[in-house]
Amino acid sequence: MQKDIINQALEYVKKMFENEYSGHDYFHTLRVFKMATHIAEKENADVEIVQLAALLHDVDDFKLSPETYAQKTNARSFLQVNQVDKETIEKICQIIGEISFVGKDSVIPQTLEGKCAQDADRLDAIGAIGIARAFAYGGNHNRVMYDPDVKPHMNMGKEEYMNHKSTTINHFYEKLFLLTELMNTQTAKEIAGERERYMKAYIAEFMDEWDGVR
Ligand code: ADP
Ligand code: NI
Repeated sequence: MQKDIINQALEYVKKMFENEYSGHDYFHTLRVFKMATHIAEKENADVEIVQLAALLHDVDDFKLSPETYAQKTNARSFLQVNQVDKETIEKICQIIGEISFVGKDSVIPQTLEGKCAQDADRLDAIGAIGIARAFAYGGNHNRVMYDPDVKPHMNMGKEEYMNHKSTTINHFYEKLFLLTELMNTQTAKEIAGERERYMKAYIAEFMDEWDGVR
């Protein structure tokens, strides 16, 4: 592995996500990278593998790059160009393949490094930033913020989770409030608990204002 590979990866994702505003911008990747590093250090995981997986986790995203999604072509070629050995490439691609939340078909990563990366990605979907990302995503996809007549769908499988269109408030019930329990590491569980409390207080305030209570 080349010694400045982390900097190369930072440059690579900065370019790739330059014009991306749907919730997968460069700063999302940067936050996941920093959080993943923190978790990996606390959990005694292989920090470099976690960092590379975090930096490359969205470069073959199903929504952004459907044609490279299956083979993880972008991540693979970046790693090959930077002389990463075959075994490490497979390990990183496996982590990327396991990372996403897809309702009840979501998987628990097989390696400790995968667990750290998945936790970091999911932490960025909750808390103050998670709230902002959810509404940014909703606006980007022409969704209404809230409609009391549209109820959340619980227990969705991958197919339904990827295809159904809902309100942004429902997304809190369909994904965001489920994430704390799904955290793999103790380090992430603690951070998630605090972020979840903050989101619940936010939703309570939202509903009070909606009902004209205050
Ligand atoms: P991730 O980077 O966590 O894999 P996704 O690709 O699922 O995230 O989504 C990107 C961001 O948009 C996340 O913050 C996620 O919670 C949010 N998001 C995804 N689907 C919806 C939705 N239907 N409504 C509102 N926000 C959403
Ligand atoms: Ni992500």
